[in-house]
Amino acid sequence: MPNPLSNHKIALGVTGSIACYKAVDLASKLTQAGALVDVIMTHEACQFLTPLTFQSITHRPVVTDVFDPQSELSIDHVAIAERADVIIVAPATANTIAKIAHGFADDALTTTILATQAPLIVAPAMDAHMYDNATTQRNVSMLKDIGCVVAGPASGRLASGLIGKGRLLETPDLLGCLRQTLGRNGDLDGRKIVVSAGGTQEPIDPVRVIANHSSGKMGYALAEAARDRGASVSIVSAPTALPNPFGIKVISVQTALHMQAALHAECADADALIMAAAVADWRPSSAAEQKVKKGDSDTWEINLVKNPDIIAGISYESLIKVGFAAESEDLLQNAESKMLRKSLHLIAANDITAEGSGFGVDTNRVILLDRNGGKEELPLMSKYDVGSAILDRVSGLM
Ligand code: PMT
Repeated sequence: MPNPLSNHKIALGVTGSIACYKAVDLASKLTQAGALVDVIMTHEACQFLTPLTFQSITHRPVVTDVFDPQSELSIDHVAIAERADVIIVAPATANTIAKIAHGFADDALTTTILATQAPLIVAPAMDAHMYDNATTQRNVSMLKDIGCVVAGPASGRLASGLIGKGRLLETPDLLGCLRQTLGRNGDLDGRKIVVSAGGTQEPIDPVRVIANHSSGKMGYALAEAARDRGASVSIVSAPTALPNPFGIKVISVQTALHMQAALHAECADADALIMAAAVADWRPSSAAEQKVKKGDSDTWEINLVKNPDIIAGISYESLIKVGFAAESEDLLQNAESKMLRKSLHLIAANDITAEGSGFGVDTNRVILLDRNGGKEELPLMSKYDVGSAILDRVSGLM
């Protein structure tokens, strides 16, 4: 499956903020993803960077002026407005936000925005006091009221030295926002999908845990694929090093019991539960309050009790349940018996011994089994694409 941004026509508006250096990275990542990127710079943005910077990255002309005879806009001033699948202004200054909110069209960017019917994303970047200013807040609210997506700003250290709200979102979040916006009318629009991810950890004492090799990559990729098709997505996540994906609710848990409680709550109004998590089947009967000392003994026995089977115990009417079966032998028999025992609609039989498949890697190889006896063997694919294939089936079941 191609990158979800490939072949999309994206207009990137760049305005006069010091954060416009980050727009170069965004333009680069979009171009690498196969998008056609039209950059429109305000005159103030040209004080920080030259059009040549963006032109070199996007391999396309950069627009700075409606009346520039070299520019496409001098012939057809709404050309980019009509071509774009989405317009993103990143960074967006307080001044440009005010102009968009009030319908000004006094430069190439605001003219394009006023003339477009494409969705608009505005990613503010400014000093904290400017952002907090009542006028800016009112303008931001006006943008939201007219259906514009306001992405960020983030909090942190600002160019002025202040610590506060006003930082431009980082590139991965802006890309996530673009993917979510482009997919918002997808086949999962209006659906809620809950995904479990990562490996649960069962404490032995304050220092040690029983854990497994799950990195969370499969669950997170699946969740992003669902977001990119319009779903509202929650991840119930065991500990992982992965950043929270844009536009997805992440509920962090540690143990199987925490995961069970969080999933029950999240699934009450969900359409589907997809459990990519590797849940510990056993936990220590009690965790020691203090660190257990080595002592003189050469062995250590830990008494384990069984964890509840989470997915088997969740049974909301009309909830579609999908499981994974990570197996090192008898893949199909084990996966099928798990699907039936846990009353699942679908299970992804995951051969963790296959090259490039299973824990920690970015790819996976699964066989999808359904309760009607259907079997679909997928080739080695990115975890995002495995997620998309599962979602095709989930969408069909809905
Ligand atoms: O996170 P990554 O590094 O990307 O690795 C991905 C993965 C290998 C973890 C993933 O692709 C995978 O196979 N996840 C399921 C692993 C597993 O533990 O399967 P299982 O056969 O033990 O469990 C079957 C199903 O029941 C799973 O959906 C599991 O989440 C669920 N389960 C298991 C135990 C339990 N107590 N409660 C459950 O709900």
